[in-house]
Amino acid sequence: MEREEVKAFNPYLEYVGEDLHLEGVSLEKLAREFGTPLYVYSASYIRDKIRAYKEAFPDALVCYAVKANFNPHVVAVASSEGAGADIVSGGELLCALKGGIPPERIVYAGVGKTIDEIKLAVEKEILMFNVESREELYVLNKVAGDLGKKARVAIRVNPDVDPKTHPYIATGMKKSKFGVDFETAKEEYKIADSLENLEVVGIHCHIGSQILDVSPYKEAVEKVVSLYKELREEGFNVRFIDIGGGLGIKYRPEDKEPSPKDLADQVLPILKDVEAKVILEPGRSIVGNAGVLLTEVQFVKDKGIKRFFIVDAGMNDLVRPAIYDAYHHIVPVKLNGSSYTVADVVGPICETGDFLAKDRRLREVSRGDILAVLSAGAYGMAMASHYNVRVRPAEVLVEKGNYKLIRKREGYEDLLRPFEGL
Ligand code: LLP
Repeated sequence: MEREEVKAFNPYLEYVGEDLHLEGVSLEKLAREFGTPLYVYSASYIRDKIRAYKEAFPDALVCYAVKANFNPHVVAVASSEGAGADIVSGGELLCALKGGIPPERIVYAGVGKTIDEIKLAVEKEILMFNVESREELYVLNKVAGDLGKKARVAIRVNPDVDPKTHPYIATGMKKSKFGVDFETAKEEYKIADSLENLEVVGIHCHIGSQILDVSPYKEAVEKVVSLYKELREEGFNVRFIDIGGGLGIKYRPEDKEPSPKDLADQVLPILKDVEAKVILEPGRSIVGNAGVLLTEVQFVKDKGIKRFFIVDAGMNDLVRPAIYDAYHHIVPVKLNGSSYTVADVVGPICETGDFLAKDRRLREVSRGDILAVLSAGAYGMAMASHYNVRVRPAEVLVEKGNYKLIRKREGYEDLLRPFEGL
């Protein structure tokens, strides 16, 4: 069963004999060489996805959402395919630049940009700021003026459509903290226009994440295009329409993953008379299924009523199951013919919420076996923490049979470094 299943997540993921390989590299071998927990990403998968976006949207700028996976080596793969970056912090700006993305391909959203972050982005002359509030307009204008520069802005509007996803990752609803109200957006545009260090260049919206049914995009883009037309009539030179990211990915074997083409079919007809350049901000759909998290079984514990596979990856390494009740498919890296059982896969953290899978039908394992947690390339390492004073995982990038360590595992010295004076 696993043999056929894994390929549907990532065509470069396959069992060669008994051993699970990613782009021709044995995952068991990587786990033994670099230790676990270990994130492993497939570069070819990332390239294919960016190319699929570019093919579906030939005239658009694809700005990879760095928040999904900020490792500059991962960003560099996206950059080498011509992608720009969507960022949400000063740190992400630096990772995007380190990954080789030129400032003129960087867009910056975020409800709480600090003065220092704004300064950095103004200095670097990024493509545009996706501004999320009136106060931010004033602050950006001031910072740009102090630096003797003009900042290009889009206003993030809230189209109030329901993306039918987990409430924590739905961002375009009226009550969410993001963007400005669609109805009053024009007022914000007028204010932006009146500020001398700002240049109004675009409209931005982002309705949410892990969207498997692409129909809500249609409604959102229709609204954005109607605003575009009104703004153009009023003399605004809107040159960019940024429709955000959010395309969902396969997490369960039964999920059907929408393609960039499915999204294009939905929105390009609405954008056909629009002269502005379209910007997309995909994150998860670029890197999510590029990556797996390898984890070693520490103990198998049978409590009669429940069995636990206790592994060395905890909620500090992959927090999605704990906070969104997210499903991640789990397969063994070695198909040794063991029979199936039902177990919870749990980590070493002192929280009941520290699980990777619940009541999951899995192959029997023993201490020392390695499991691969699939669809872990997005919002995996990016959300890892030091909780319970644990070092964060290492990361490896594989491409066509080759591999390289792209982030070394932290050591205890990294954990203790910030505490001076003792
Ligand atoms: N653009 C903006 C303005 C965003 O806020 C996001 C994601 C994206 C683009 C990229 O969305 P994507 O294509 O990756 O869906 N931690 C959550 C996901 C949070 C998404 C936040 N914003 C998770 O693990 O599911």
